[in-house]
Amino acid sequence: MSMTFNEFKDRATKILNLKLDGYKLNRVQRRTDSLMRRYNISNYDECLKRLEKDKDFRAAYLNHFTINTSEFFRNPENFSYLQKNIFPALFKSGSRIKIWSAPCSNGSEPYTLAIILAELKYKTNQYQILASDLDPNIIEVAKKGIYGLNSLQNVPDHLLHKYFTLLPGNANKYQLKESIISRVTFEIKDLINEPYPDDWDLILSRNFFIYLTKDFKEKLVQKFSAALKPGGYLFLGNTEFIFNPEKYGLKKVYSSFYQKIE
Ligand SMILES: C[S@@+](CC[C@H](N)C(=O)[O-])C[C@H]1O[C@@H](n2cnc3c(N)ncnc32)[C@H](O)[C@@H]1O
Repeated sequence: MSMTFNEFKDRATKILNLKLDGYKLNRVQRRTDSLMRRYNISNYDECLKRLEKDKDFRAAYLNHFTINTSEFFRNPENFSYLQKNIFPALFKSGSRIKIWSAPCSNGSEPYTLAIILAELKYKTNQYQILASDLDPNIIEVAKKGIYGLNSLQNVPDHLLHKYFTLLPGNANKYQLKESIISRVTFEIKDLINEPYPDDWDLILSRNFFIYLTKDFKEKLVQKFSAALKPGGYLFLGNTEFIFNPEKYGLKKVYSSFYQKIE
């Protein structure tokens, strides 16, 4: 009899050096099954052997597992709220504003912040943007700053022309300008298993909790809340909500925005 998904998962995590505690397991199984179909692999024994022997397949598995989908100005109405309400409130203090995009995927999210701040004419010494993700491959993609039209569909035309250059010979790839790239610091970080730095004015953790079990989502909301300055903001994805935010020392201010109670 071939091995069950649970047996596969325990052995695969050792090969991949991946900790799966915290992720919704039925989702991990669905992702594994869909990758197996794509590679014509018929059972978990075969999949495990392939993981052991084939470096490219290991990379494909990790890539498939992490779901790096992201885009500039994802859920534009929330970025517009950030621009009109949250940034003016934060910058009023006059001190250097600390912003953390966690997880950041291909960089579309932290670069959107850098573009908005450049448009608002804030100087680079008035803020810092840190961007973290577990996946080293996607961090490399982010640092290059080259994007296809699928990542850019919400970027208004005037900003596309101002901050991106169409790559010669390739009608669909745009290079983000160095003046924006240089405003973001990237790092590889496991947000489930590593401790967080603290004292953030604004943390974006968007489209990440959806992959986690309820218990781990709660643990991470607690960790993010502890990492915020009093009065700082947590910005979540459009389909992510915190029930009973007061339990974590937070209050809801608008749609996907929560503020740490002072
Ligand atoms: C769907 S993307 C979200 C990106 C961006 N925040 C957005 O909303 O467009 C989810 C990201 O979570 C990252 N991820 C998954 N598990 C992680 C972990 N334990 N620590 C850090 N990043 C993780 C994946 O690599 C992926 O880039």
